[in-house]
Amino acid sequence: MIFGRVKPLDAILATAEKKSLTRSLGPVQLTLLGVGAIIGTGIFVLTSEAAQKAGPGMLISFIIAGFVCAVAALCYSELASMVPVSGSAYTYTYAVMGELLAWMVGWALILEYAVAASAVSVGWSGYFVGLIDSSLGIHIPAALASGPAWSMVDGIPHADFSAGIVNVPAIVIALLVTWLLMIGTTESAKVNAVLVAIKVAALTMFIALTVPMINGANFEPFQPNGMFGHGGESGLGVVGAAASIFFAYVGFDAVSTAAEETKNPQRNVPIGLIGSLAICTVFYLLVASGAIGTIGAQPVVNPDGSSIAPGSAAMVAQCKSLMAIGQEPLVCSKEALAHVLRQIGYPWLGNLIGLAAFLALPSVILMMLFGQTRIFFVMARDGLLPEKLATIHPRWKTPHVVTLITGLCVAVAAAFFPVGQLADISNSGTLFAFFMVAMAVMMLRITDPKRKRPFRTPIVWVVAPVALIGCVTLFLNLPYESKMVLPIWGGIGLVLYFLYGRRKSYVGRGIVDVHEDDADTPPQPVPPLPDAPTPGGRQA
Ligand code: ALA
Repeated sequence: MIFGRVKPLDAILATAEKKSLTRSLGPVQLTLLGVGAIIGTGIFVLTSEAAQKAGPGMLISFIIAGFVCAVAALCYSELASMVPVSGSAYTYTYAVMGELLAWMVGWALILEYAVAASAVSVGWSGYFVGLIDSSLGIHIPAALASGPAWSMVDGIPHADFSAGIVNVPAIVIALLVTWLLMIGTTESAKVNAVLVAIKVAALTMFIALTVPMINGANFEPFQPNGMFGHGGESGLGVVGAAASIFFAYVGFDAVSTAAEETKNPQRNVPIGLIGSLAICTVFYLLVASGAIGTIGAQPVVNPDGSSIAPGSAAMVAQCKSLMAIGQEPLVCSKEALAHVLRQIGYPWLGNLIGLAAFLALPSVILMMLFGQTRIFFVMARDGLLPEKLATIHPRWKTPHVVTLITGLCVAVAAAFFPVGQLADISNSGTLFAFFMVAMAVMMLRITDPKRKRPFRTPIVWVVAPVALIGCVTLFLNLPYESKMVLPIWGGIGLVLYFLYGRRKSYVGRGIVDVHEDDADTPPQPVPPLPDAPTPGGRQA
């Protein structure tokens, strides 16, 4: 039952051919899309959160998280080159492990992409608010610039409104990006290329200014919370910070969701995935070293010396009292990189980096929303979600209905949750998806060894198991609340699947597309699809 209803790879490729999106992306554009999706709130904002969890030891966290992503990317690349269609981990799982698990992966990917889009919207808001305050003197009150701080009180989520009530700038940017995406991928990709350049230039400037000023003393103590924290709060220490900062790398897999819109995907998708990941890792290590080495990155602690989780009400209170006496450590800043430059005597360059984040973080929101809508699109095309969602706009050639619905949900989450918690929740979904991809690549090597693999994961029997172990380890080191979201979300997904998807699925109803020249496959019925999308002039 669990592994039932596999959608044959040939059928996936046939469906994609009949109802495909326009193929317009080349290798450079794809790598830029990857870098555009990867560099964002993780490095610009969550550097503070990672420092609160691990202190200077966050450098090791970046390496651990980057390593897990690298092995996962190698698995992704094999599948993406074999199955160059939209849908990423969802599609691969459908082909290998069947519909139920594919649905669960697609459902988990909502956590990854949509919640990540919310997280980046909140991160953008922090920079926006700081930028207009320090450059124009316009102060947005905290109540309207931040959602509440959440914590668990007696096992029940509790909102503390002293931190803020609703994040208005985050809502605005989420909706703006939704609109941009609705009017078309081509326009979006062009805008994205400019924004990636701005982002890379800003990080390069940061590195050039801070690295020469590094003071070795700022790296001591290197691991104030040890590898796994010292009891009490969950998710602290170097590995806990790795589980959070993993978010900084999320997005490379969005490249594979664009496979169906890529020219020569067999060659270009692996280039896009691995190239963008490599570029970002180098940047992250240099930027984190610059931040730690110039102003230090020690966590703030409770008056009794116990550790505090970032984003908690205790953290908000402790940072407020430090600011009252004129101190603002890195861990308290919502605009980490701008804060570092202001602290080391470059206030205008701090504003400039704030401006870069202001301009460029929306490209990450765009990629996350893009990935999300394409996954919804593919799930709807398979009948697991209402077909109406897959409707393509006649002029814009985008799945506008699903884009709008997703954008509205993203805006609501961005309005009421802090960036770190959103990022951790997003990570839980992503780690699940990566786990399934690593499983799928191994299973396909066994069940379908002869299929053409334009890109083969090197030493797959080492790389894929290492990816599995890495994903489980990071997941277990997320904060307790974020870990719990995945099973609860999964439970809701299961109910929906049995109420809707299982009955409506095309594979379940025996409606499977196959290549006409598939001589060795028995003929299968291909019914008319109501409202079938017809982008690029191809008729379903
Ligand atoms: N990696 C992306 C970011 O850091 C999601 O914002």
